Amino acid sequence: MYICVCNAVTETDIKKAVKNGANCLHHLETSLGVSNQCGSCICDATACLDRAMESQMHSANPFSI
Ligand code: FES
Repeated sequence: MYICVCNAVTETDIKKAVKNGANCLHHLETSLGVSNQCGSCICDATACLDRAMESQMHSANPFSI
């Protein structure tokens, strides 16, 4: 699913960026271009970033809830 239509950035792209160390919207902007044009994707990109970071945190710690 596209998160940032202007830059053709998908949820998968954001998950990969998080795996590569992205942990804030600024990192997504510099690495993928998210929100650097119309800006309408900021809320969705932030939510996607949060989900990806939470998912990665849980997969890194199999004993967490
Ligand atoms: S949809 Fe992301 S900058 Fe326009």
